[in-house]
Amino acid sequence: METTLVLLKPDAVRRGLVAEIIGRFERRGLRFRGIRLLQLDRGTAEQHYAEHRERPFFGELVDFICSGPIVALALEGEEAIDLVRGMMGATDPKQSPLGTIRGDLAIALGENVIHGSDSPTSAERELALFFGEAILP
Ligand code: RTP
Ligand code: MG
Repeated sequence: METTLVLLKPDAVRRGLVAEIIGRFERRGLRFRGIRLLQLDRGTAEQHYAEHRERPFFGELVDFICSGPIVALALEGEEAIDLVRGMMGATDPKQSPLGTIRGDLAIALGENVIHGSDSPTSAERELALFFGEAILP
């Protein structure tokens, strides 16, 4: 079993897509081990996106993820990390197939509604950042 960290980004919350996206994970059969509504401060956002610190879009990325409430999920299932990445689709929604979350619900690269951990190492780091001990066994 794996557990992965998902963020429903501020555009998803603003656009009223939370139930739509969470419903897809429930129907797929993933188990919720944690769920939080929170507003990120810049320090936490910079830590979360530390791998992109040198990228030209880093400032915009941090501004955007801090621009409103987000929903953090800890989701468990067999191969949950890759399973969720597959359900999300491609980083650029315009390249993302219909049937994926980004392909169905987004257009802009910078407002692509969802984040999911991309490896076991990232999942461990991100789950600690967003949930710490506050996660169901
Ligand atoms: P995420 O981390 O948000 O789950 O997205 P991802 O793994 O699919 O994509 P990643 O390469 O980690 O990029 C993080 C976010 O940065 C924005 N981005 N902008 N302007 C650009 O060229 C550019 N490239 C990436 C996207 O919003 C992406 O989700
Ligand atoms: Mg990423």
